Amino acid sequence: MIEECKLIEFPQHGDERGHLVIVEGNQDIPFDIKRVFYIYGSDKDVIRGRHANYNSEFVLINVAGTSKVKVDDGTNQKVFDLDRPHIGIYLPKLVWKDMYDFSEDSVLLVLASEHYDNNEYIRDYDEYIKVMKNQ
Ligand code: TYD
Repeated sequence: MIEECKLIEFPQHGDERGHLVIVEGNQDIPFDIKRVFYIYGSDKDVIRGRHANYNSEFVLINVAGTSKVKVDDGTNQKVFDLDRPHIGIYLPKLVWKDMYDFSEDSVLLVLASEHYDNNEYIRDYDEYIKVMKNQ
């Protein structure tokens, strides 16, 4: 499942006026975008995320600054660098994710396939491992 976590490069149009990056639901993003949120002002030593979701898929884009995303499927782990505004990472359902190493100017944009539902979050890592063993 970890191999489903993939970097996506978005089309960008740059000219002397600056850059424009295009992100279209159901095209560049492999789902219908139902929710957008963004994270900024997180210190370098903060670890965010630390959860998995039963239903939601996500794409994370550092539209400013940089951060790292560690993904874990209970067996394998992989670290992705988000360091360009036209690159996103796709995260499928049921992947455990940590976001960390935020630069001071980091603005991490998150596109989600579902509306927010606290009940679809797994926030305990031991529970996550049990869930994945039963998959
Ligand atoms: P949290 O899940 O801790 O964020 P992160 O994924 O960065 O670790 O969310 C922080 C708070 O915001 C928490 O109280 C739940 C709330 N929240 C919403 O109400 N709606 C949302 O879409 C999200 C992502 C969080």
